[in-house]
Amino acid sequence: MQLKPFQSGTIIEPFRIRSVEPIRFTTMEQREQALQRAGHNPFLMRAEDVLIDLLTDSGTGAMSSQQWAGMIGSDESYAGARSFYRFEAAVQDITGFKHVIPTHQGRAAEHILFSSIAHPGDVIPSNTHFDTTRAHVENSGAEARDLVIAEGRQPRTIHPFKGNMDLDALRATLQELGRERIPVVMLTVTNNSGGGQPVSMANVRAVSELAHAYGVPFIIDACRYAENAWFIKTREDGYAGKTPLEIAREMFSHADGCTMSAKKDGMANIGGFLALNDDELAARCRSLEILTEGFPTYGGMAGYDMEAIAQGLYEALDEGYLRYRIRSIEYLGEKLTAGGVPIILPTGGHAIYLDAREMLPHIPALQYPAWSLNNALYLLGGVRGVEIGTIMFGLQPDGTEKPAALDLVRLAFPRRVYTQSHVDYLCEVILAVHEQRAHLPGYRVVWQAPVLRHFTARLEPIG
Ligand code: F0G
Repeated sequence: MQLKPFQSGTIIEPFRIRSVEPIRFTTMEQREQALQRAGHNPFLMRAEDVLIDLLTDSGTGAMSSQQWAGMIGSDESYAGARSFYRFEAAVQDITGFKHVIPTHQGRAAEHILFSSIAHPGDVIPSNTHFDTTRAHVENSGAEARDLVIAEGRQPRTIHPFKGNMDLDALRATLQELGRERIPVVMLTVTNNSGGGQPVSMANVRAVSELAHAYGVPFIIDACRYAENAWFIKTREDGYAGKTPLEIAREMFSHADGCTMSAKKDGMANIGGFLALNDDELAARCRSLEILTEGFPTYGGMAGYDMEAIAQGLYEALDEGYLRYRIRSIEYLGEKLTAGGVPIILPTGGHAIYLDAREMLPHIPALQYPAWSLNNALYLLGGVRGVEIGTIMFGLQPDGTEKPAALDLVRLAFPRRVYTQSHVDYLCEVILAVHEQRAHLPGYRVVWQAPVLRHFTARLEPIG
């Protein structure tokens, strides 16, 4: 008997679940109260009031048995711990960078880097700076300039690498300001604030060549380097036969260093690093690290955190895992698109981005359509996402407000946490909100902080 192989449409999570964490079901009335207590700001809600928590993919993933095994055997010595050398070896093996400076998370690496190299009047180009990166650049008095390609700003234009840097714009900026005013060129892979969109190897190479032609160092924001490697493997000519590890190594080989939040593709709950090739800059950064993070062989992490990352950096590059992860996001994207829900296309690496401005044309940008959509997802289904729009980016340094480029709700997936049935439920919730979209209210701010207001602002629905 000849049996033909069959193609399964089911996304099989490439792991067995041996430890479970209950999630709590609530009524719509309970959720209304929870949202009110939190000033209608999901950041201020208690996590136990959330059923499916897609606030972030940062530090929220499930660790593997191998990671836990490493953690049990960690070395907690203050100086020279074995766990540090394991961590350092993993980072060097994957990135090829000479100096590995551990930090408690990604923004600490940004703080150390920009405090060491950026000055008032400087400009730091990137495809799109993440909000903490932008805040650290601006905190040093420099300007954070986003130069993503035009397609990267158009939610429904299909392009395989919408995170790419606009090379003409970068060239013009380098020509105009030179290395005197550009201490570093950054590139965020994948481009989180631009929809989790990947950057091609060709673009990484070209950015590197341009920056170096002007004598400017090139630093990668590497938070989601493994997901970016997967997109290069599956979308860019010449990479189908390479492993994600080989692709990651090639990506890093074009740069002079990276900042990293190990809470993403480090598969850890906390941690990060700054990695550099330049001896002198690394020495200055280590001095600052001692001041703000800790001794250079732990830098704000416990030995067990470094063990988790040393293992996690490789697990993030596993092909079975990457296929499941990227396919889960794509699967949800397909269902939403079929249901008429406007999302950023093509779907990116770690999240679905709902286009609230498009979905809710009756809510003006300064009444925060994405905020409203996000709260409706919680009210109807206990789902928590995050607004990436006018509340996050609209407040100007002089206190005025203008609409952000886009008003999006990001639904970011913790790594290895949710299954296909969670995703199916989520899809039902989004479709139910979409059906009732005409009834969603605008919001007004009741209280806000002068910077990074989205974390602590209190709002209320209008009418
Ligand atoms: N760079 C990017 C591209 C990020 O996405 C983040 C964090 C950071 C830097 C800062 O790292 O949180 O470890 O200090 N992004 C999280 C998010 C918070 O939800 O997207 P961190």
